[in-house]
Amino acid sequence: MQRKSCISGEYARPALHIGGVIDSKVLDFEPPPHWRVALDGPAAGGKTTVARRVAQALGYALIDTGAMYRAVALGALERGLSTGDRAAMERLAEAEASRSEFLPDLEGSQGFRLLVGGVDVTGRLHEPRVSQVVPAVAAIPGVRRVLAAQQAAIGRRGGVVMTGRDIGTVVIPDAEVKVFLTASPEERARRRYGDMHARGEAGDETPEVLQQIEQTLRERDLQDSSRDDSPLLQAPDAVLLDSTGLSLDEVVARIIDLVRTRMRTEVR
Ligand code: DC
Repeated sequence: MQRKSCISGEYARPALHIGGVIDSKVLDFEPPPHWRVALDGPAAGGKTTVARRVAQALGYALIDTGAMYRAVALGALERGLSTGDRAAMERLAEAEASRSEFLPDLEGSQGFRLLVGGVDVTGRLHEPRVSQVVPAVAAIPGVRRVLAAQQAAIGRRGGVVMTGRDIGTVVIPDAEVKVFLTASPEERARRRYGDMHARGEAGDETPEVLQQIEQTLRERDLQDSSRDDSPLLQAPDAVLLDSTGLSLDEVVARIIDLVRTRMRTEVR
């Protein structure tokens, strides 16, 4: 039986607190202005949505490093470059890194805007053709070297929630708070479907469609976690947070709690 989806881009479960109660104005502590929150995890684990809310609550910037890999993949497609040409990909990453700007836009659809050479590419980063080639681009050591250096420089300024696959292990190994966010494959498939549906890229929600998405996510995870350079890996000192069955607000509240707890241990 076919069922019309009512899943939005955000989590399907109703939020515990309606209207964004978790907000910097109601935090019972003052977040240190230069702390870094590293949020890693597999595709469709909810990182960007969670990170945006955590950034809003703490008054930090959201840096989605996946967007940087996507921008290089998009640049390659637009120039007709082969993503298998590692030297060309590295040169492109270098050229883009020096011309790109990450602008905070926590109220916008993605939570940030990415400009390359002054052109806003944010809305094109999730085109299916980009999603298809980006794991291969992200597996190129030269590309990773360039982008990780750029990300580490942003991290040094502090006051960021940075999402990715290697933030807690490689990019900001000394981040004050590290979280590895995951969810069951079924829940991740439902969330990815919700994202696609919200962008008008998916039809009705059927078991077959969900299974196909789950399969694609498994393949993506395998590519990300089996590559030689900076594979998707939980840092030994990262807190594992499984969001299966939790509402968005519950997940956000747990991360805010980690920041609060870390602050308490710092002042001791
Ligand atoms: O999170 P995302 O789906 O937008 O990431 C796009 C791709 O980039 C995905 O294949 C994982 C990869 N990536 C990475 O290797 N390292 C990061 N820090 C961020 C993303």
